Amino acid sequence: MGPISISEQSFVPQPILVVGDVMLDRYWFGEVERISPEAPVPILKIDHIEERLGGAANVARNITALGGSCRLVGALGEDEAATSIRSLASRAGISDLMLSDRRQKTIVKIRMVARQQQLLRADFEARPQDHLIEQRNAQVAGHLFDCGAIVLSDYGKGMLSQVQTLISLAKQRSAQAKQRSALADRAAAILVDPKGDDWRAYQGASVITPNRSELRAVIGRWADDADLESRVRVLIDELELEALLLTRSEEGMSLFDRQGRMDVRADAREVYDVSGAGDTVIAVMAMALASGHSLRQAVPLANKAAGIVVAKLGTAVCTPQELFA
Ligand SMILES: Nc1ncnc2c1ncn2[C@@H]1O[C@H](COP(=O)(O)OP(=O)(O)OP(=O)(O)O)[C@@H](O)[C@H]1O
Ligand SMILES: [Mg+2]
Repeated sequence: MGPISISEQSFVPQPILVVGDVMLDRYWFGEVERISPEAPVPILKIDHIEERLGGAANVARNITALGGSCRLVGALGEDEAATSIRSLASRAGISDLMLSDRRQKTIVKIRMVARQQQLLRADFEARPQDHLIEQRNAQVAGHLFDCGAIVLSDYGKGMLSQVQTLISLAKQRSAQAKQRSALADRAAAILVDPKGDDWRAYQGASVITPNRSELRAVIGRWADDADLESRVRVLIDELELEALLLTRSEEGMSLFDRQGRMDVRADAREVYDVSGAGDTVIAVMAMALASGHSLRQAVPLANKAAGIVVAKLGTAVCTPQELFA
């Protein structure tokens, strides 16, 4: 794995704009002591409830936990889950640019858990209406001017429909910044955590960060490492990306860029909970790029952060003290 060349002093990002599918992760913890007389199902006697920011909001939470400044654009309803999300975001120090509409339903995932076993997950979902997508564009246009990076966190719930508009806006912002300043302000990096099997909408992004199954859905099953590399090259050219960062769970990650490729081995001694590791990866990548570091410098740091969060229970975050220890 590449050495970490980013110091804590040089990890000082410009603000980061996160746009995507915001959700509330709700956990109902309890005990199962009997089977229901109504149907052959266990009865969960609820002991306590926990709520955490999920989806794009978890990326935002990772950024502020690491000391970055983060603005979050997403869609909420006007329900009690929306109130929970806003209050959690405020406590996490996230600048709240989330849009609300009373005809919208906030996305909530309820996980029912007994003795660390998930019994059931229940989802409330709704796709954002068209007018919310228009408001999203205005929100992004108005808050992008001083950002060092934009993260598009796609969980396939609709907030990133017409995502090409956002990529164009980010590119315009960079062109304008260049015009204004003779010092040629660096372009805002555009990072995408993708979903689905058609990535043409992400054309022109800086870097896209799929996991193995997400990449497989697009380029098919690869026979070996060389085959993987040649398929990724085609994709990078087609989508006009600077790079693709493949996260490979216990195998670490591989960066494919114009210079070639860079592999880093997973950096975790103990693994407790891998959920949310992808959110940590894209958060740290965005922060490193928005601090003026290169993709190749950013990758080992993102890998280290992911190794730290998988060793914690629950969708966890990493602190600067841990990252630079
Ligand atoms: N089992 C593991 N052992 C060690 N490191 C891991 C493990 N799982 C994940 N990681 C670290 O986390 C990074 C991201 O994980 P992964 O590739 O599973 O992303 P992901 O599927 O997007 O995760 P999620 O969607 O749950 O947030 C990996 O590149 C690696 O650094
Ligand atoms: Mg992921």
